[in-house]
Amino acid sequence: MSDERYLTFALGKGRLASKTLELLEQIGITCEEMKDKSSRKLIFVNEELKLRFFLAKGPDVPTYVEYGAADIGVVGRDTILEENRNVYEVLDLGFGKCRMCVCGPRKAEELLQHHERIRVASKYPNIAREYFYNKKHQTVDIIKLNGSVELGPLVQLSDVIVDIVETGGTLKENGLEVLEEICPLSARMIVNPVSMQMETERIKELIYKMREQLS
Ligand code: PRP
Repeated sequence: MSDERYLTFALGKGRLASKTLELLEQIGITCEEMKDKSSRKLIFVNEELKLRFFLAKGPDVPTYVEYGAADIGVVGRDTILEENRNVYEVLDLGFGKCRMCVCGPRKAEELLQHHERIRVASKYPNIAREYFYNKKHQTVDIIKLNGSVELGPLVQLSDVIVDIVETGGTLKENGLEVLEEICPLSARMIVNPVSMQMETERIKELIYKMREQLS
């Protein structure tokens, strides 16, 4: 045990991290240090199990994992698709379920049907590009936004948006609708390909235990 190296986890900050820590706790992996909300520490260690954890901004999680700064990451599938990093996606954690959709006012449906050259606002320009150019073969103009994307059609910045829909509440309150569904989303566990080779047993055991707990 003592010559084992540390396995490092990068967790997307926020609800996903809390849910992940709950799940890890259920399979006997705890990190007491991380529960102290007043702490300003960035890296938390479980010496006994030789595990390290850190919290990162969601879009940075696949970056840490691709470069091997973290062996394992937990992040939404939206981020994995958008960042398109060289990582293995090994487990669907089942929480954080939502959908990536094309949304807009009902009248924009026609523009989609006729493959018009429309403006698409999104926090996810790569997902939007992949969907419109490669799947629908529709030429569109993509405008990158950083949040409150629903504003796009409301202030005539764009015809539609590509965004996450969870309850549908934000769309409804702003007179917008789901016009097309791109894909389902949820939290996923990702692994660095080299770590998977070097630490196969430990990582496989972890995946196995998590999968058992989830079923
Ligand atoms: C997300 C997403 C939608 C909203 C969907 O935004 O971009 O705006 O949640 O949730 P709903 O279907 O349950 O209403 P988030 O709250 O992350 O903030 P953002 O707009 O700044 O990205």
